[in-house]
Amino acid sequence: MGKVTVITSGKGGTGKSTVTAGLGAALVRRGNRVLLIDCDAGMRGIDLMLGVSDELVFDIADVINGNCPPASAIYPCKTVPELYILPAPQNVRDEISPSVMRQLTKVLAKYYDHILIDSPAGVGTGFRAAAAPADRAILIANAEPLSLRGCDKVRHKLKHNKMNNSNIRLIINKFNERKFRKLNAFPDLDAVIDEAGARLIGVVPEDITASAASQNGRVIEGNMKAAYAFDRIAARMDGKNVHLFLE
Ligand SMILES: Nc1ncnc2c1ncn2[C@@H]1O[C@H](COP(=O)(O)OP(=O)(O)OP(=O)(O)O)[C@@H](O)[C@H]1O
Ligand SMILES: [Mg+2]
Repeated sequence: MGKVTVITSGKGGTGKSTVTAGLGAALVRRGNRVLLIDCDAGMRGIDLMLGVSDELVFDIADVINGNCPPASAIYPCKTVPELYILPAPQNVRDEISPSVMRQLTKVLAKYYDHILIDSPAGVGTGFRAAAAPADRAILIANAEPLSLRGCDKVRHKLKHNKMNNSNIRLIINKFNERKFRKLNAFPDLDAVIDEAGARLIGVVPEDITASAASQNGRVIEGNMKAAYAFDRIAARMDGKNVHLFLE
């Protein structure tokens, strides 16, 4: 059975979808077969990031409504073999229920080493559906007070849904040392981690090249700074003892 991880944050725009796509590619580089499930009904984005949006015919709502088998709504990323995506519905009315997501993911987990579920912002039905089937969660925070508040809220919701704190990890994304110092909201990254209340699994630097690549349908890889960070996080997700290295 594959490991199922929800990527979430509470606050919008922290980089959940970018991390889902980038981390998915990094897990594939380690030899895993990976499925990305986009749970952001009405605002899907992973298909764009993987450059497959022109090919989409079916989405997760079609699978749930019995319009097609799951395999017909799962699309391979052309440039990264073994990376697949199940897109979110285009229509926000097709929001998925948590119990249905649980059933579907249970079936799909047999065929992949990792399933990463991209959660929408907030703590509404979309978040609950994304979190319902997950064994573990990665919280995406930026090193800013508002972002950390969202993280804390989500962490409490996850715990309320019986997720053990030890299965909740933190990624500090878009980290820029100079901006961090200038913001002057926290003395250091330890204070950020304390505020988030979850164990750190990695710091992803602000990387404009990676952001541009991902928004133009290219995978974050090669010598991009963010790709290096994703590789280290992917290794930790696979249980490897990699030093927490602040890139
Ligand atoms: N490490 C990074 N460095 C630079 N830019 C980044 C990084 N991660 C994400 N971004 C940029 O931040 C913006 C928001 O990213 P993304 O869409 O992944 O966030 P999100 O949390 O999924 O948003 P939403 O809550 O709307 O779903 C995008 O422009 C993206 O390219
Ligand atoms: Mg998103």
